[in-house]
Amino acid sequence: MAAYEYETHDYDVVVVGAGGAGLRATLGMAEQGLRTACVTKVFPTRSHTVAAQGGIAASLSNMGPDHWQWHMYDTVKGSDWLGDTDAMEYLAREAPKAVYELEHYGVPFSRTEEGKIYQRPFGGHTTEFGEGPAVQRTCAAADRTGHAILHTLYGQSLKNNAEFYIEYFAIDLIMSEDGQCQGVVCWKLDDGTMHVFNAKMVVLATGGYGRAYFSATSAHTCTGDGGGMVARAGLALQDMEFVQFHPTGIYGSGCLITEGARGEGGYLTNSEGERFMERYAPQYKDLAPRDYVSRSMTMEIREGRGVGAEGDHIHLNLSHLPAEALAERLPGISESAKIFAGVDVTKEPIPVLPTVHYNMGGIPTNYWGEVLNPTADDPTAVVPGLMAVGEAGCASVHGANRLGSNSLIDLVVFGRAAAIRAGKVVDAEAPNPVLNQASVDKAFDRFDAVRNASGSVPTAELRLEMQKTMQADAAVFRTAKTMAEGVEKMTAIAAKMDDLQVTDRSLVWNSDLMETLELANLMPNALATIVGAEARKESRGAHAHEDFSERDDENWRVHTVSRVEGNAVELSYRPVIVDPLTTEDQGGISLQKIAPKARTF
Ligand code: FUM
Repeated sequence: MAAYEYETHDYDVVVVGAGGAGLRATLGMAEQGLRTACVTKVFPTRSHTVAAQGGIAASLSNMGPDHWQWHMYDTVKGSDWLGDTDAMEYLAREAPKAVYELEHYGVPFSRTEEGKIYQRPFGGHTTEFGEGPAVQRTCAAADRTGHAILHTLYGQSLKNNAEFYIEYFAIDLIMSEDGQCQGVVCWKLDDGTMHVFNAKMVVLATGGYGRAYFSATSAHTCTGDGGGMVARAGLALQDMEFVQFHPTGIYGSGCLITEGARGEGGYLTNSEGERFMERYAPQYKDLAPRDYVSRSMTMEIREGRGVGAEGDHIHLNLSHLPAEALAERLPGISESAKIFAGVDVTKEPIPVLPTVHYNMGGIPTNYWGEVLNPTADDPTAVVPGLMAVGEAGCASVHGANRLGSNSLIDLVVFGRAAAIRAGKVVDAEAPNPVLNQASVDKAFDRFDAVRNASGSVPTAELRLEMQKTMQADAAVFRTAKTMAEGVEKMTAIAAKMDDLQVTDRSLVWNSDLMETLELANLMPNALATIVGAEARKESRGAHAHEDFSERDDENWRVHTVSRVEGNAVELSYRPVIVDPLTTEDQGGISLQKIAPKARTF
């Protein structure tokens, strides 16, 4: 018998999370008449997508020639050849459609003189299959693009009768004996009631786990809740070692300064006032991809050319840009620079440092968002009833490194794809599944054990230990020694989950309990990250291994699959999908064009 009384809700689809991917999926499901609920721990427009600044990539050609094939090529190269080619083709092909849909839903994009959607340059986005100049592909609503998208999608979802369960915390997935997802168990934060959502399809859109690190651009709510639930259900995580550091987090606070700042003409300098990116990336300079720029900044600092009293950061210069352009195109970051760095961007440079920003890894899916449970015999086996989209998922469209502005487009393309797929596989006429009561009870029992945890380690203390360890040992540059130490430390830290101390036993607005549940979600994500990193004996994308400084396609062009149980991580590998969806004859891109080669900019 369940440890708590609960209310049961029946839906065709339950989406967990109301960021860009969750809302796009919710809207797409509801538009087709599927009975759709969206369960979210924060108010939808406070989801972390609201912080996305610079824009959303799509080859609209509003500012010059562009093609989806060029976008696809850049994404393949950006991923350092770890992305799945079918998913990358789907992303680049569908991107213009998905952006025009957003426009028609009402997203207030910035405009060109002719009234077209304004597009700016972003790192790694080029023309002529990486041979031509940088392209203006990133569609922007000033530097508040995520905010604009989120408000529009929430309004449209309501208009289409999607039902929202706001400030509900998802505790665990309900799984049948034979591995089908049947729903999710939730705790309503504001009145302490318990809820069981029974659904034919559950879509995890819970975002990333940036808060496994000490300094991140991610909101404090980015605690990898989907990954945590999936790990506890015995399912896999994928490519977790690939963690993106955004080059321009504000020094100290970690607050994001959009790459759009460099897109609009900003540039980085060292203590000698040198535009050092010209040395590292002669062709694209400050508009090289993020892994490249973050490493270059770190090398400048290491070699004694950092700025500031301690020589430990870098300057981002915008003061040469016209004040009107800053006010029109970059108003948000001008304000953030003032608040968080005390800097007037029209006069002074912003102090910046590479800061954890994005998780390329996540819950493995195909390009329809269906969650995979890879086995040696069937690396693309689908988990019935379960999807994952957005940063929570790993399609894998970003491989080892994501290009800036490919995140927002990932959210809407794959949120939309999940809805298209659900429209085919969810039978609205069929009865809901008969819930596996043992799975429901298990979720409540875990919740109750956490609520009554009476060990000796406060949640905040253990979380800080984890964050500092991840920051130090799974950083921009990694060595065999730091990662081995990281694995040892994280294994010991995760073991302390059994000795946690929760002091507040109430059920209404109990932030102590919620943060402990979030820590329980962060922990498997963090463990899989450090263990996967330690095992990968090469450098690729965001994984810069100083003892194995080259990419090794022969042995390591594979996805890492991790299963976490307690503080143990079991690793296996699955092949990268190298074939595109269409051939050159069908208007696609040739295999030869996207074959791995040296990644220079
Ligand atoms: O720099 C930015 O505006 C962030 C964009 C992104 O992560 O795609």
